[in-house]
Amino acid sequence: MNVNRKVLTLDEFTIQQLRNFPHATGELSNLLRDIGLAAKRVNVEVNKAGLVDILGDAGTINVQGEDVKKLDIFANNQFVGVLRHGISCAGIASEELDDVVVFDDEVSNNSKYVCLFDPLDGSGNIDVNISIGTIFCVYRRISEKGGPCTKEDFLQAGINQVAAGYIIYGSSTMMVYATRRGVNGFTLDPSIGEFTLSHTDIKCPENGKIYSVNHGNFFQYNDNVKKYIDGCQKKNKTNGGPYTQRYIGSMVADVHRNLLKGGIFMYPTTTDKPNGKLRLLYECNPFAFIVEVAGGKATNGKERILDIKPTELHQRSAFFVGSKNMMEELENACHEN
Ligand code: AHG
Ligand code: MN
Ligand code: MN
Repeated sequence: MNVNRKVLTLDEFTIQQLRNFPHATGELSNLLRDIGLAAKRVNVEVNKAGLVDILGDAGTINVQGEDVKKLDIFANNQFVGVLRHGISCAGIASEELDDVVVFDDEVSNNSKYVCLFDPLDGSGNIDVNISIGTIFCVYRRISEKGGPCTKEDFLQAGINQVAAGYIIYGSSTMMVYATRRGVNGFTLDPSIGEFTLSHTDIKCPENGKIYSVNHGNFFQYNDNVKKYIDGCQKKNKTNGGPYTQRYIGSMVADVHRNLLKGGIFMYPTTTDKPNGKLRLLYECNPFAFIVEVAGGKATNGKERILDIKPTELHQRSAFFVGSKNMMEELENACHEN
């Protein structure tokens, strides 16, 4: 044992960051701690999911028209509950809820942030013990502090995110979050029940060898995307291909792997889903922010994800995210004719 070993918990880390900003109020640290707490509660249930009656469908359909799983609801309730009782969040929007939830009490009305999340990403994998996740992002509200937050606070372009992150409930549980200053990863140490700094200043490799896409939809993609995917399977002078295809069906797990190892994740529009499948506010924006801070890129095939001004809470988008050079190759393919 190294007696000088110093590990930082999530709280210690965010408080240490505060020391660099004498005027900071600590609200964001509080918010991240609240998110960490909700994540730990979800983690406990996910871990024993086969043992307790938490697997399977809840028997309802969400606002997106998708089957809701019991764990979707459990996770949603944990995040809403913790943020409502915290002191740093004026309201939330969730993939599982039709409309925003404005907390509207004295403390919440004086909070400067709103939070958006996909409480459980990769729901289809819950019942089969494959990694799932939570995705979140934080905006500074544009409505006046002192009163309730408004829907406009949630409909900001992704470029305005103050922080974004995800929790992966995998072979170990990790929380990764980004602010403009960098991306850091914390692994849950079950012996002390704390997220502990394990991945400092994460950078996405500029080149990668992994491409992640649902090949079953190949014939529904447009010609430019087909051509790019075709190129992934071939060797050429510049790309170091052929690439390896990896697609789990939990975006959190797929993008986490590609962020660390280098790669590209794609969910293009299809003939069945002409607006794409993934949700701009809860899935694309947070990952676009995290990966851009780490040095990568994100686009919908036409424009940078973070520049899109949302018009609806549950708006969908095509999504391409990953290593800088692979993304540039993709962008070139997308801009052909
Ligand atoms: P969610 O479970 O929150 O609805 O999201 C699932 C998403 C994403 O995580 C994943 O990459 C994608 O759906 C998989 O979709 P396909 O099965 O259509 O490939
Ligand atoms: Mn999702
Ligand atoms: Mn979800």
